[in-house]
This record gives sequence, structure tokens and C-alpha cells, in this order.
Amino acid sequence: MIPLIDSFEAYQNAYQRSIDTPEEFWDDVANTFTWKQKWDQTLNWNFTEPKIEWFVGGKLNITENCLDRHLANRGNQTAIIWEPNNPLDAVRKLTYAELHEQVCKFSNVLLSLNVNKGDRVCIYMPMVPEAAVAMLACARVGAIHSVVFAGFSSSSLSDRINDASCKLLITADGMTRGEKKIDLKQIADEAMALSPTISNCIVYNHKSFPIAMQADRDHDWMSLMDKASVQNEAIEMESEDPLFVLYTSGSTGKPKGIMHTTAGYMVYTAYTFKNVFQYKDQDIFCCTADIGWVTGHSYIVYGPLLNGATTLMFEGIPSWPDAGRFWSLIDKHHVNIFYTAPTAIRSLEVFGLEPFVGKDLSSLKVLGSVGEPINEEAWHWYHKNVGKGNCPIVDTWWQTETGGILISPLANITPLKPAFATLPLPGVQLVIVDEKGEELHGNNVAGNLCIKFPWPGLARSIYGDHERFKTTYFSTYENKYFTGDGCKRDEDGYIRITGRVDDVINVSGHRIGTGEVEDAMNEHGYIIESAVVGYPHDIKGQGIWAFVICDREHHSYEQLCNEAKAHVAKVIGPFARPDRIQVVAALPKTRSGKIMRRILRKIAEGDTSNLGDTSTLIDPAVVDKIKAGAELIR
Ligand code: PRX
Repeated sequence: MIPLIDSFEAYQNAYQRSIDTPEEFWDDVANTFTWKQKWDQTLNWNFTEPKIEWFVGGKLNITENCLDRHLANRGNQTAIIWEPNNPLDAVRKLTYAELHEQVCKFSNVLLSLNVNKGDRVCIYMPMVPEAAVAMLACARVGAIHSVVFAGFSSSSLSDRINDASCKLLITADGMTRGEKKIDLKQIADEAMALSPTISNCIVYNHKSFPIAMQADRDHDWMSLMDKASVQNEAIEMESEDPLFVLYTSGSTGKPKGIMHTTAGYMVYTAYTFKNVFQYKDQDIFCCTADIGWVTGHSYIVYGPLLNGATTLMFEGIPSWPDAGRFWSLIDKHHVNIFYTAPTAIRSLEVFGLEPFVGKDLSSLKVLGSVGEPINEEAWHWYHKNVGKGNCPIVDTWWQTETGGILISPLANITPLKPAFATLPLPGVQLVIVDEKGEELHGNNVAGNLCIKFPWPGLARSIYGDHERFKTTYFSTYENKYFTGDGCKRDEDGYIRITGRVDDVINVSGHRIGTGEVEDAMNEHGYIIESAVVGYPHDIKGQGIWAFVICDREHHSYEQLCNEAKAHVAKVIGPFARPDRIQVVAALPKTRSGKIMRRILRKIAEGDTSNLGDTSTLIDPAVVDKIKAGAELIR
């Protein structure tokens, strides 16, 4: 059994031990798993190359730990509950035995299509259990899965397929979210036209949408599964063999394929799932994220299944058919642990208390928050109205790169403070540094958040570009992993995350690089140049504000806005659609041609009292014009 921390004192002891003797600490956790061969070196690392290896020499298959080892005791226990988009449609439940069978069969399907260890497989799927089956089957045959969020456009999808040279794409005919229909296969077809490495495509028929199938390439999921054997031996993986790649945005350049490996990710997600949420046998755990993001990977699929938990997958959205959907879901499935994003909470807050009427939320024991800072007001609303004042909120801070949660209260153990992620988990040696990289000791300090020692879940590389991994995360501050976030440590030693300190914005919990939006805008025929920043948004957390220079040909501001927004949605995906577009005659540039984003950010935030030094601008008068223009669209 994975060790469970059951008191604050036990947390303090575990934390101290994880710092004093990290290898012994993680050995004890790793020893609770099934290995084909035990490791001979627990940790081998340096943050200069960087090189991070855990459980070196060990051999295992993560799916044996997610599935096979539970069969004896939990074969008939529900592993996945699936709640469809439409609450009137049938719920599906898969036991551990059924999930195991599906994964074994689909593993044989993959092998029959010549998908082998180390091959990359792209998964572009709705939120259905088959998405988890596809991920686990990849892991079982040793293929590296790259799940792409089904809200991405065809060009974003093909970029990701091409970056990792995926040979297989797994998708579905389509999906419905609320009342919106999305033709996934059509988008996949457009992407595959630009992705020559794909030789096969498996299509899961989810909604019976009309689709075109290309005879030599496309295969129907069900037909393949009907023919597949249920016997499948999980292949032997080395601890450091890659498990998956997941694309995420950074300050500059194209999205990067964050690469996680097998054993460390397994140990870390399982340990954090159990301890942060204080998961107890039979609890129903519901995480409302999408499997296309890391939260879905670690806390819908791997973390829960590694613990033999029951995990609920929700296909729909919080606002449909009405704003009480989450509360009906909790009532219907007797959810005990509910994990969602602050943006969802804020979007439901505006509907008041009426949507709660008639919903029994008494099954809830623990609430969680993830993806962005939770403001105090939303924290209290969540605590009072959803948790009825009885459920702790675990405000979990982490990133795609960290694999699992790094800073969070442990439910019912760590004393809470609204809007604080509180304390680091065992194994997490966080440091706060100033701009010069000097470590800020003690309490009442604010600076940039870094980690100075590896934990098992840390990403190992950027797929195909280790140099970029080094420069992005390990070069800003010597011998430290730099998170890109700012934080404060208060008088009690508690951590409050203050948000990104780079050009990454967080829109409804979606991580977007401002550069990506600019590139998409600049492709539009009317737009000559653009600069994109985030601004505070009541519901989304941050909204996207684009300052653009246009040619003279455009017809009207309204037309420009509509077209530019639609263009970004088409190039990246609808979630990246700018909220505000401000046409400007010029952007504030320094003599070296750099746009001074700091100024644009302040203008978008409505905080123009002190814009700092503008003397290095080519034309400081530009600033006043932009300020005046901003007032017109605010
Ligand atoms: O800025 C932090 C914010 O989300 C970023 C990571 O985004 P992503 O890789 O997409 O992973 C999101 C889900 C783990 C972080 O750099 N973030 C995440 N959780 C929190 C948060 N900010 C404040 N509080 C959190 N609990």
C-alpha cells in the first residue's frame, strides 16, 4: 500500500525525511508497486545537462500497476464511471476487469497495426472511456502517447503530430459539448493531409456522425476490437523509457512536447493522488479536467487507477443543460472528492444558489482546485455552497512539467488559508529567488518560484529538443528548475502563487503563449503586426487583449474584430479566441525594435498610474494614444 500521511505531524516528519534521505523516502513508496525487476540506483541527477533518472535499472509496465495487480481484489469494482454530455443518455461503468480486457484487446490492435515500443501515437478523442483505453494500451505496448486536447484546430493537431512524428492517430467521429457539435474526424482528416508520418487512423464511433473513411488508412475501432484477442502480456519497460509526450505553451516559440517517463511519473502521481486527496477505498473521485491536459492524465487516468480508485469521467460542460450540472453530477454519482478549476467556480457563481436546489451534495468530503490562482471570493463561495462549510479545499499548484501536484494542502490535515496553495509536498524542495537568483530565506518574501532538487514526477526533456528543455527550465537560475511562476511566502511560511512571470497567460485554466496568438493574428491578411497580453477577467481569470496594426484596406472595426478572432480560433482552437482587439497606429517599441510588453500589460490591466521608464521608446507619445484607445474598448 502506498504510504498515507494521516496527521500534520506525520506530514512534517515525512517532509523532513524526504529532504534528509530522499532516496530512502522514495524507495519506500516505489516498493509498493509491481516491478518486473527492481531498480539498482534510486536517483541519478544533475540540473546542468540536465539529467534526471529515477529507479535506474528497474523494469515494469505502468498498466500492470494500473490494472493487472487490482484484478484479484478489485476485478468487479468500478474503475471508470462515464457521465455523458447529455444527462438523459446512459451512464457507462467499467469495472477493473472490463477495463483490463479492453486495454488488452486494444493493445493487440495496436500491435496488429505495427505500433511498437518507442513509436509515437497521437490521441485526439472526446472524453470517453475509450480515450483512457487508448492511453493505457499505448503504455502497455510501450508506445509513447501524445494526447491532443480535442478543442485544438486541425493545424495545431498536425503541428503536434509532426513534431513527434506520430505514426498512428486515434480519434472519433465527433463529439457534442453542451449543444455544440464538433466533427473530430473531419478535423483529423484536415490534419492528416498535412501529416505524412501517419500511416493508420483508428476511429471510434461515438455519435454516429457521417464521416468519410479512407480505405487504406482509416479503421473502425469496433471492427478491430471484435477481432482482437483478450490475451496480452504487458511489455517490459525500463524505468526511464518515455511514457508520454504532452504539448504545452511557453513564452516563446512553438508549443513544446513535455516528455515524462515511466517509473518516476507512476510513483509520483500515485503518491500525490492518495495523499493530497486522502483517497480512501470506495471513494468516488471526480476530476472535471479534460484528458487532453496534464490534470486529466495524472488525476483522471493514472493517479486514480494506480490506487485502485473509482474515477469519474465527465464528457459535458458545467453550464449545460443548466448551471446545476456539476451539482446534479455529484448527487447522481455520490461523488466524494470533486476536483475542478477556479474558472468553472467563478462561471457558476454568477447563477447564485438556485441551481443547488434539490441537489444532495452530502456525499462530498474533499474539494480541489487546480489550473490557476483561486481568488478568495471564489474560494469562500466554493467552500460554503459546494462544501457546505465541511469540506477542505485542496488548492493544488503544479504544471505539465511537474507531472503531479507539488504544493498543496493535504485534505483534512494541513490547516487551510483561502487562496494559498499552502505547503510543499514531501520531496519538493522549493526556493524563492529574486531576479539575480539569490535565494530569499525566511518568511514574508516574494519572488520567483524554483525547485532545487528533483522529485520523481519531473519531466525529463522536451521531445526532440533537450537543449530547449535546458534553456527553458534550467538556465535562468543555476542548478534550479524555474517554474515561470511568481509566489509569496507569508508570515506562516505558507505559499501563495501570484501567477506567471513570463509571457504565458492562463485563460480559463488553459495555458497559452502570447507569441502563439500573435503568430496566428499576424497570419491574417488585414493585420500587419500585433502584440498580445493578458488582462484580469472576472470569469476566465485572464482574458486575451490584442493590440494590432492593420493595413488601410479593412472595411470596419467590427468586421476586423470578427475575422481576426475567428482566424485565431481556426489556427489554434476556439479557447484561444482574443477577447479584446484594439487597433493602434503603432506599438511601443524600443530602439532595438523590441515591443515593451510591460507597458501594454499595464494598459490592459487598467493600471496606468505608473508606467515606469518609457524613455527608451522610439516614440513615447505612442503610449498616450494607446491609453486613450484602450478606454474606448474596455
Ligand atoms: O501558473 C501556474 C498555473 O498553471 C500553470 C501550469 O499550467 P499547465 O501546465 O497547463 O498545468 C495546469 C494544471 C496543473 C502554472 O505554471 N497553476 C496551476 N495550478 C495553480 C496555478 N496557479 C495558481 N494556483 C494553482 N493551484
